[in-house]
Amino acid sequence: MLVYEIIRKKLDGEKNSAEEIRQLVMGFVRGEVAPEQMAAWLAAVYIRGLSDEETWWLTETMAKSGRTIDLSPIEGIKVDKHSTGGVGDKVSIVVVPLVAAAGVPVAKLTGRALGHTGGTADKLESIPGMRLNLSEEEFVAQVKRIGCAIAVATEDIAPADKKIYALRDKTATIASIPLIVSSILSKKLAGGADAFVFDVKFGDGAFMRRLEDAKALAEALVRIAKLAGKKAVAVLSSMEQPLGCAIGNAIEVAEAIDVLKGSGPDDVRELCLAVAAQMLWLGGAVTNPEEGRSKAMELLQNGAALEKFRQLISAQGGDASIVEDPTKLPQPSYRVEVRAEQSGVIAKIATRKLGLISGQLGATRMGAEQIDPSAGIIVMKKVGENVESGETLAILQSNKQIGNEVLEEVRNCFAIGSSAERLPILAGFVG
Ligand code: URA
Repeated sequence: MLVYEIIRKKLDGEKNSAEEIRQLVMGFVRGEVAPEQMAAWLAAVYIRGLSDEETWWLTETMAKSGRTIDLSPIEGIKVDKHSTGGVGDKVSIVVVPLVAAAGVPVAKLTGRALGHTGGTADKLESIPGMRLNLSEEEFVAQVKRIGCAIAVATEDIAPADKKIYALRDKTATIASIPLIVSSILSKKLAGGADAFVFDVKFGDGAFMRRLEDAKALAEALVRIAKLAGKKAVAVLSSMEQPLGCAIGNAIEVAEAIDVLKGSGPDDVRELCLAVAAQMLWLGGAVTNPEEGRSKAMELLQNGAALEKFRQLISAQGGDASIVEDPTKLPQPSYRVEVRAEQSGVIAKIATRKLGLISGQLGATRMGAEQIDPSAGIIVMKKVGENVESGETLAILQSNKQIGNEVLEEVRNCFAIGSSAERLPILAGFVG
């Protein structure tokens, strides 16, 4: 079939076959289908959509376009989690060891900072010596030995996604649910797990601003994962304010350690327990998510999850003594407080903006710069909390000097009003 005809069918709202989708995508990866042809098809999909079957064919083709990880040497149901990205999201750092501590194997491929959101790989690399670039053999062997591993996804995982994503980014076709689902799920499927928990975020700091869009994405992710023969559940969580208090790398690891010790901010703990509960259920460690939540709580309180985190760090060459003494994590040369100029209640936090500012301080690459592992923002007041004029709203950290204009920008991220409700972290489950 001519590529021209494949594009024409989608433009006219007809269905493409599995073979047509394969021919188009693999042709594009090999350089035989021109970028303008692929761009036209992506635009047609953006407008016309894809059926679930077409979305699955696209996902499968992309998943098989590169290396796929074989987790079959590892016994048990291998469970993975994926977050659609947010500000202050340190959930993976907590739940990977937590779920592994219950005997459910977790082989997690993870990414680096993207746009205004940080990356788990960059966060964990702030631990002195910690190595995320594991070979497939090291990755699988470690999961067999200690029950978990976290490695950075290499370029050869779903290469079709990388090429297509770059084109979508240039042609304003990112915000299409079937394209997002195929992008996320192709990488997850290539990672080899049997079951997935998706943390789909909504709100100012999320990729999907509106809850109803996040819900539609969550439903589509779960439907297509099931078509792929996998178990899947999605958790809908709020990104209307940063998750927890820390936004950065080393400071997020320190906050994750607090949660692993049974304390830490309530919203981080609640979300970690919700995600872990679903993972434990899908992994067969418990008979329902409620039991999963109790089990996860017990593992935080009895130190088993923290001990698993120590093992994870040591296995990947890191200095596990940071767990007892987080001051051994990289510390910044500059630490500046941003103070409120009026009294009231925190009504809103410009979360996406705070993520971007944290990046400017050095927490993400933002261009060619090296990451400063100590850089970031500690949020001291969350939505619904009272604040007095002169009280600290946030602490900024960096190894470069922090100008007054940055303090002003951060101060403006906190809208102070006369009343506001505290924001719930969870908005539901899709399963
Ligand atoms: N994250 C992805 O990995 N892909 C998308 O298309 C959107 C968000």
